[in-house]
Amino acid sequence: MAEELLRIRGGSTLHGEVPVQGAKNSALPLMAAALMCSGETVLHRVPRLTDIRTAGRILEGLGCACRTEENTAVIRQHGLSGSEIPDAEMRRMRSSIMFLGPLLGSAQECILTMPGGCELGPRPIDLHLDAMRRLGAEISEQGGRICCRAKRLRGARITLPLPSVGATENVLTAAAVAEGETVLCNAAREPEICDLARFLNQCGARISGAGGGTVTVAGVGTLHGTEYTVMPDRIAAMTWLCAGAAAGGCVCVSGAVPQEMETALSVLEAAGCRLRIRDGRIELRRTGVLRGVRYIRTMPYPGFPTDDQAPVCAMLSAARGTTVMEETLFESRYKYVGELLRMGADIRISGRTAVITGVPALHGADVSAMDLRGGAALGIAAAAASGETLLRGLGHIDRGYEDFAGVFNSLGCETVRLPVFSASTEKTGCTA
Ligand code: EPZ
Repeated sequence: MAEELLRIRGGSTLHGEVPVQGAKNSALPLMAAALMCSGETVLHRVPRLTDIRTAGRILEGLGCACRTEENTAVIRQHGLSGSEIPDAEMRRMRSSIMFLGPLLGSAQECILTMPGGCELGPRPIDLHLDAMRRLGAEISEQGGRICCRAKRLRGARITLPLPSVGATENVLTAAAVAEGETVLCNAAREPEICDLARFLNQCGARISGAGGGTVTVAGVGTLHGTEYTVMPDRIAAMTWLCAGAAAGGCVCVSGAVPQEMETALSVLEAAGCRLRIRDGRIELRRTGVLRGVRYIRTMPYPGFPTDDQAPVCAMLSAARGTTVMEETLFESRYKYVGELLRMGADIRISGRTAVITGVPALHGADVSAMDLRGGAALGIAAAAASGETLLRGLGHIDRGYEDFAGVFNSLGCETVRLPVFSASTEKTGCTA
């Protein structure tokens, strides 16, 4: 497919309502877990994303049938035919590692390579592998191929050195079908963990304590298919709210779970936005000036989410005053800042700290997304900027946002998806 970009005409206030898509970071582990469930699993509110298509292909390669129509995925498992995930699929996304626990649990073997995904600095998988070893897996590595085998998984007491979201998810899936009880300490507490536990319990698992630091899993041997609706995407919801805050106007997201977004929403309020929250609707109004927020630090849930860091920095680059942002989870999550500078932003990076000095106005520019949330951040800045922005690297944004251009248009920000070639031709007037 020809490479595409977005042409965003910024500078107008935004108005409208956006129904929140299903959460990518929940739908992907749920799809992986479905391979442990005999019979049919039906997942609703699955976002239409390239990562979801990758997960579907991985499932099919392992012998499941996977059909997605609109926002529903139907996965049928009547016996697996493989236990290896091709390197090409592993490289496409971080979530390919989410197949480790389910495959070990149901095929007693999982062969994989290092997962890809957004480049945010080193993203090792040592915690995943150590946890699988604790459950009885033997792991060997040769030429980058990691072979994990376990004739029988046995419940264990596992303490994670840090509350890794992915490692917690792999422990939950593997332990769900292990022999005996697993107690996971220092587990991640993200809402996506609770969604996975709810789904697994509906498939026959016995998991308690998800959402807290200690999760107990009583192994049940086998799981069955079910029908389940994926939780709403709290990061996508925050992205649309940040766009409204940056450009001004009134943006409402519907179908969200505001309780899962409290820390992020408090930042919007501190920046001078007015929020009205009722029945899963979050309405943001920004008519006056946007203000800097002094200090924000990314933390595991319920702290301020690292995935909101880039959208919020973009928003605050158009605020009055200074914000200090500290990124504590990933080493290299400021790649988008260089692109924001092209739009007139004033941001200085020192290690994991960004000092954002709001400028009176951003202007459109030719910029490139380098990862998913950084790409969304550039979109937000483009909506607030005067003039036209060409946003390249759309492949990153398509991994996590369902119809980014459609949402911007629905809010009144004129956004066109164009093949890269025709966009450059239009700009230069050159057809040769
Ligand atoms: C999940 O990544 C999300 N991805 C990320 O969202 C999110 O930023 C992150 O959780 C934190 O909330 C998915 O759910 C697919 P971690 P994950 O394991 O599971 C270190 C987005 O934009 N670590 O909690 O990979 C790691 O390097 C994406 O949607 C190890 O050292 O995150 C990081 O510093 C980007 N060894 C920290 O833990 C390991 O074995 C947290 O990572 C695993 C992790």
